[in-house]
Amino acid sequence: MTFRLGPVTVLAVGLLAAGSLSSTANAADAAKGKVLAYTCHGCHGVPDYKNAYPSYRVPKLGGQNEGYLVSALNAYAAGERPHPTMHAQAATLSAEERADVAAFLSGEGGLPSKDVAGTPPPATQTCVACHGADGAKTVAPDYPKLAGQPADYLLHALKAYKSGQRKNPIMAGIISGVDEKDFQAIAEFFSKQQALCTTDQVVEHGNCQAE
Ligand code: HEC
Ligand code: HEC
Repeated sequence: MTFRLGPVTVLAVGLLAAGSLSSTANAADAAKGKVLAYTCHGCHGVPDYKNAYPSYRVPKLGGQNEGYLVSALNAYAAGERPHPTMHAQAATLSAEERADVAAFLSGEGGLPSKDVAGTPPPATQTCVACHGADGAKTVAPDYPKLAGQPADYLLHALKAYKSGQRKNPIMAGIISGVDEKDFQAIAEFFSKQQALCTTDQVVEHGNCQAE
């Protein structure tokens, strides 16, 4: 009996271990992310909450692409994207927790696409190839949606790429060919499009809803 049960027991334990291993490697856990996101609401969930010096509204996160949220949080954690507060926020989370919080904030599938609002300024012609005509249908999952971000945040981001404060090889190449006098019109255009909820909302059934 013992001889026959032994290998069976070992096999069962082996299967259990394999099961828990594969669940660790599985997709991020949005339910855990929801709990972790409570600390984020203090800034991202407050309408018109502003960064001080320089003053600009904090970016919206609800409905943003999951892959982009992960890469942004990783960049803050590593100090590659400089911002003391966000460095502190991101660095206290493990890589797994950053993925969990990104899964929660992105919301399953995001919002349905809307018609383009207003006339795109000529300077946005090169942008739409990656960010989408509406600033929402991005060509890659780790490219950010721009649609609906506060105009002053977008303006700050464009200036940060231009000055080299924010380093990203793709955007650095793009922004070198864009005249700074066009930044305001670009920022206002993308800000008028709609693809993001505030952080105190999540995307549920294709709508922004309070948590
Ligand atoms: C004290 C205020 C504050 C808190 C708390 C805070 N953030 Fe931020 N967050 C900011 C500011 C300000 C920025 C813009 C920084 C910059 O210009 O790079 C930002 C930027 C971000 C970005 C970049 C978005 C983009 O479009 O590039 C992400 C992602 C982010 N925060 C996630 C989080 C998460 C997740 C938490 C909670 C764990 C959190 N933040 C907590 C203030 C805050
Ligand atoms: C070849 C693809 C590509 C093109 C073309 C492109 N972008 Fe980007 N954009 C990216 C990527 C990738 C990122 C994320 C970079 C990072 O992590 O900092 C980004 C980030 C941004 C951000 C920061 C968003 C945030 O939430 O912080 C802004 C603003 C932006 N792009 C505006 C523009 C504008 C305006 C144009 C046109 C003049 C443009 N982009 C053209 C790929 C592109």
